[in-house]
Amino acid sequence: MNILFATPECAPYVKTGGLGDVSAALPATLASMGHDVRVLMPAYRGMKISGEVGDAADIPAYGPWPAAQLLPVRSDNGVTLLLLACPALYQRPGGPYVDSGGRDYHDNLMRFGFLSRIAALLGTRHSPCADWRADVVHANDWPCGLAPLYLAQARAFGNTAGNGDQPVAASVMTIHNMAFQGVFGMDSAEMLGIPHAWRGMDGVEFWGHLSMLKAGLQFADAITTVSPSYAREIQTEAFGVGLDGVLRARADRLSGILNGIDTRIWNPAEDKLIAQSYGPGTLEAKARNKAALQSRCGLAPDPDAMLFGVVSRLTAQKGIDLVLGGLKDLLARGGQLAVLGQGDPGLQQALQEAAKQSPRQVAVTVSFSEEMAHGIEAGADCFLMPSRFEPCGLNQMYSQAYGTPPLVAPVGGLRDSVTDAAQDPARGTGFVMDRIDAIGFEDALRRAFDAFRDPQRWRRIQANGMARHFGWEESAAQYLQVYRQAMDAQ
Ligand code: ADP
Ligand code: GLC
Repeated sequence: MNILFATPECAPYVKTGGLGDVSAALPATLASMGHDVRVLMPAYRGMKISGEVGDAADIPAYGPWPAAQLLPVRSDNGVTLLLLACPALYQRPGGPYVDSGGRDYHDNLMRFGFLSRIAALLGTRHSPCADWRADVVHANDWPCGLAPLYLAQARAFGNTAGNGDQPVAASVMTIHNMAFQGVFGMDSAEMLGIPHAWRGMDGVEFWGHLSMLKAGLQFADAITTVSPSYAREIQTEAFGVGLDGVLRARADRLSGILNGIDTRIWNPAEDKLIAQSYGPGTLEAKARNKAALQSRCGLAPDPDAMLFGVVSRLTAQKGIDLVLGGLKDLLARGGQLAVLGQGDPGLQQALQEAAKQSPRQVAVTVSFSEEMAHGIEAGADCFLMPSRFEPCGLNQMYSQAYGTPPLVAPVGGLRDSVTDAAQDPARGTGFVMDRIDAIGFEDALRRAFDAFRDPQRWRRIQANGMARHFGWEESAAQYLQVYRQAMDAQ
C-alpha cells in the first residue's frame, strides 16, 4: 500500500509533544511491514537532515498558493520524508505553530492549508512526485485537516484538470487532541477554495467560523483517535470541545487505536541518555539514575525519599494544578519532585516558586530537553500524570517501561494503558485516581507512598509495568485495517 503520513511535526527533527513521536514511529513500523510509506511535513528552519534520496519536485504556484519544492530525504529510521520546502512559509525562528514569543503565526491558515493541499495532491494523478501517488492519505491533527476535504473535492468535482474518473486516495483523519482545532475566519474559505456548498454546518462551519479539524472530521473516509477510551469520550459534551455532535454523527467511521512506544528509543536497557542502563533483572541499578537525577537537580541525595517525576507541556490539560495542590502533602510525606516542562507562564511560575521554597525537595527545569526527559523517566520512583483529559499520553507508557510506576487520572489513554495496583494486585502497573480532583490526587498519592514503603510490593508493580508490551506492531496492524476500510468506503 502507498501510504502518505501527513504531519506538522516529526521527531527527532521537530517535536512539541507526542505527535512528533508518533510521526516517527508509526510510519517506520508500517514500512517494516512492507508498505511504501512517505511522511509529508514542512521543511522548517534548522532541521538537520542529510541524504536526499531522489530529485526535488517543483510545485508551481497556483492561485493564492506559492511555489514550493518537495525534497525527498531519508530519515534516521529509514523512512522517506517528503519535506515541503517553501521558505516564505516555514523558514522562521520559533516553533512549528508559534513564533519565538509564543504567539500563533498570523498566517497559519496559509501555512497549514498549503500542507493539507499538498497532502491531498499526493493522492491524485497530479501528485508532485512523478513516480509515486498515495493510496491512502493519513492526515494528523488540524494542520492537515483540509486534506480530506481537498480529496473529497477532487473526487466529487474531478481533479483540477476536470477528470473525475481518475482514482483519488482514501483519507484517514487522526485526532491527537480535540483541544486544538485550527479555527479561522469564514472569509478565508474563498482563498482556500472551499466549495460554497461545504461552508455550512454540514461542512467546515463552526460557530460562524471555519474549523480545519471539523473539515477533516466531516470529509475523511475514516476517523481515528489515539485510544479507545478517548474515542468514546469525545462523543460526549464534556470532552468533545464542541465537535461531539459531529463525531456522534460519524460514529460508524470513528475508532480508537492506542499509540505504541518506540522501544529503540525508550528502553532502559539500551538508553544512552541515562546514567546507568538497567532491565527487569537489574532494577537495583535504577538507584544510580535516581542519585544522578537528585544531584543534577540539586535535590537532597537521599535514596529513601520517594522521588516523583513530571515531564510535560505545562498546560491546563496536564493537571499540573493538581500536582501543585497536592505538593504540601507530597512534601510532608518526605517526597521529592523533579519537573521538566514549559508552557503556561502562570504554571511555570507557580512551580518555580515551589522549588524556591523547598530547593532540596522540589526541582523545576523550564526547557525542552530530550536527555533530561530520559533522566527523569529512569531516575524517578513514580511518574505523575493527573491529566484532566488525555487522548493517549506517551509518558505513562515510557514510565512503565522504565520501572517507574505512573500515577494517572482515569481518562483516555491513561485509563487504557495503566492498571491500578489496588484494583488488580497481581497485574497492577501504577496508580489510577478514582476521580479527577484534589481528593482523587491525594488519595492516589497516599496509595503510591504506601506501596513504595513495601519493597516487595513495589518491585512487583515495577516488574508488571516493565513486562508490559507497548510496541507499535499491534497498533500499526489496526491502522492498516482502517486504511483498507477507508479505501473500501470510497
Ligand atoms: P502531549 O503530546 O499531549 O504533550 P504525550 O505524553 O503524548 O503528551 O507526549 C509528550 C512527549 O513530549 C513525550 O515524548 C515527552 O517526553 C515529551 N516532552 C514533553 N515536554 C517535554 C520537555 N519539556 N522536554 C522534553 N520532552 C518533553
Ligand atoms: C496529543 C495528546 C497526547 C497523545 C499525543 C500523540 O498531543 O495530547 O495524549 O499521546 O497527541 O498521539
